[in-house]
Amino acid sequence: MDKFVINGGKRLKGRVAVSGAKNASLALMPATLLAGGTYRFSNTPRLRDVTTMSSLLESMGVVTNLTDSTLVIDSSNITSQEAPYAHVKKMRASIYVLGPLVARHGRAKVSLPGGCAWGPRPVNLHIEALRKLGAKIELKRGYILASAGRLKGARIHFDVSSVGATGNTLLAAVLAKGTTIIENAAIEPEITALADLLKQMGARIDGRGTTNLEIEGVDDLHPADTRTIPDRVEAATFLTAAAITGGSLTLDNVTPDHFAAVTAKLHDAGCRIAVSSDSVTVDAPDSLLPVDVTTAVYPGFPTDVQAQWIALMSVAKGSSVVTDTIYLDRFKHVPELIRLGADIRIKNNSAFITGGKPLTGTTVMSTDLRASASLILAGLVAEGTTEVLRVYHLDRGYETIEAKLRILGADINRSSGEEF
Ligand code: EPZ
Repeated sequence: MDKFVINGGKRLKGRVAVSGAKNASLALMPATLLAGGTYRFSNTPRLRDVTTMSSLLESMGVVTNLTDSTLVIDSSNITSQEAPYAHVKKMRASIYVLGPLVARHGRAKVSLPGGCAWGPRPVNLHIEALRKLGAKIELKRGYILASAGRLKGARIHFDVSSVGATGNTLLAAVLAKGTTIIENAAIEPEITALADLLKQMGARIDGRGTTNLEIEGVDDLHPADTRTIPDRVEAATFLTAAAITGGSLTLDNVTPDHFAAVTAKLHDAGCRIAVSSDSVTVDAPDSLLPVDVTTAVYPGFPTDVQAQWIALMSVAKGSSVVTDTIYLDRFKHVPELIRLGADIRIKNNSAFITGGKPLTGTTVMSTDLRASASLILAGLVAEGTTEVLRVYHLDRGYETIEAKLRILGADINRSSGEEF
């Protein structure tokens, strides 16, 4: 298994371009199951999760090819409506195939996702929504068995704002007969991007970017091309890397509005921020102010940047509190940060951080995608050498992260090493 070896203490300086959004690609790709033909998605990131989704679709008869960041998908010949455990256990977003398979093919057999690195991540909202649209759904031996004639429009209210359930419901409702209303829909940019693609495919969706979506089902859709939106979480991660190293960084190919909550908090921590239509520059102070964060659904502070923020606050001068309201137990990175010298105490879904103690390098273990990012950030500033093990977690969601960090002056190398 690969690891990263980082020698800390280098201020990041310079500029890099951010890649396309993983969580947009994972929502767009299953949409190709709704209409046979060829699609081109430019600015697609080369990530493990994108490869996983591609191989899942290929197991259903779809042909995919990613060259120079353009993903070409041919879904003319669907031969299976199954998402086996082997795929779904690697990536929970595989469940996005459920909606389109039921809507267009009338049946689906999709493995339940199983656990993830932190806490339970149920899919009850996905299942309840599809049942409301008329699908017959059984849970049997770890699989979701779904069947339907033509789905029928329905009024669906989500008690919990869910990115995945909103996406799955959109992917099903567009071909249902009649009108579907989704109340308390997620408004994350990746969901808006999915709605935009579906409209290009001929779907009729009103309420773009709001928590109330109205979908007028149509009989058929057709393929369409799109450009994948930039990855707001990668952008936030790099800006936080500049802040933690006291550096100065410009990010290109970004949509600044998509991570305004993070740049606002970086400003509160003492960073100077400059924003243009597609780039953001951060100039970090020599010492950071402590800033409390509570995660929230978009446009609030993203839970996917919570781990990175805890790493940053570990080196700020003073105490801060980071609370995650989306996932109440997403703190697997904290014990590893403590091994680097951070002073953090967890109580319920909050991390109480006493910043300012120097971090010193050692060997730490990645447990999930964003936790790994927080360990990289800490390693960039820790005194001495930090080895981050199991970086396959990072490869799920950050395209060539070490190459981009090296461009910015970081002393980071990937080595394939046996774990101790
Ligand atoms: C998406 O996951 C993202 N993944 C996650 O990013 C992100 O952390 C999450 O949204 C929250 O923003 C993708 O887009 C592929 P949710 P998703 O359904 O859709 C509860 C990353 O690092 N819930 O919005 O699975 C759930 O337990 C990944 O890129 C139910 O209770 O998240 C959570 O508390 C990690 N029942 C809350 O809703 C359900 O049926 C939000 O989850 C579904 C969700």
